[in-house]
Amino acid sequence: MRNPSLNEAGKRAAGESAASLVEDGMVVGLGTGSTVAWTIRKIGEMVKEGMEVLGVPTSYQSESLAISCGIRLTTLAQNPVLDLAIDGADQVDRRFFVIKGGGAAHTREKIVSHCARRFVVVCDQSKHVEQLTAPVPVEVLAFGSGLAYRRLQEMGGKPVLRMGKMKDGPVITDNGNLVMDVDFGIIDDPGVLAARLSSIPGVLDHGIFCNLDELHLARADGVEIIRKPGR
Ligand code: 5RP
Repeated sequence: MRNPSLNEAGKRAAGESAASLVEDGMVVGLGTGSTVAWTIRKIGEMVKEGMEVLGVPTSYQSESLAISCGIRLTTLAQNPVLDLAIDGADQVDRRFFVIKGGGAAHTREKIVSHCARRFVVVCDQSKHVEQLTAPVPVEVLAFGSGLAYRRLQEMGGKPVLRMGKMKDGPVITDNGNLVMDVDFGIIDDPGVLAARLSSIPGVLDHGIFCNLDELHLARADGVEIIRKPGR
């Protein structure tokens, strides 16, 4: 788990706040990372108290945590439409664009979030920014990684192959692919960049999410819930 001690109280507050959206009988997408882990633990407590919830995990991490918390799991094949998906984020801007993929789980996270009627992000206020600036994780098929590297540079990005920690060589995702973290500086138009990244052959998916509905943001004085206008 990355940064386990960083603002743990804020992560917990945001994560548990979003768990209160879960209702009896719901099918819920379970995101990946240290903040949404608090959501999963809280849902586990609700299940122990008798609530019926089915979870769709977005990674091996969230799958094993959900199992250890007693949450029954299902698949998108069995439940193609989810009531809700809850996940963490690396950055969220004022216009509701999100960068995810710090845990290299963004491809499954994006699929799960698009299957959900409502997509909720949990994070602390350090990640809420005016404009996105974080490197964008891009999951790439190894076979096409040379082409992807060149195209990302042509788009003005600085791609860096993500390397393993406690493992020699590159990070291999849960889907068996590579990840490049691509610095684009300030991202003026995340929607346009998202479409351009998706057009590169061999790119499985990238960490720009344009479908956020609701943000649970931990501040020093509590959790602020911000809904996208019109949702
Ligand atoms: C994993 C993700 C995570 O949700 C994101 O990196 C936030 O993680 P954390 O809550 O541990 O800071 O996108 O791919």
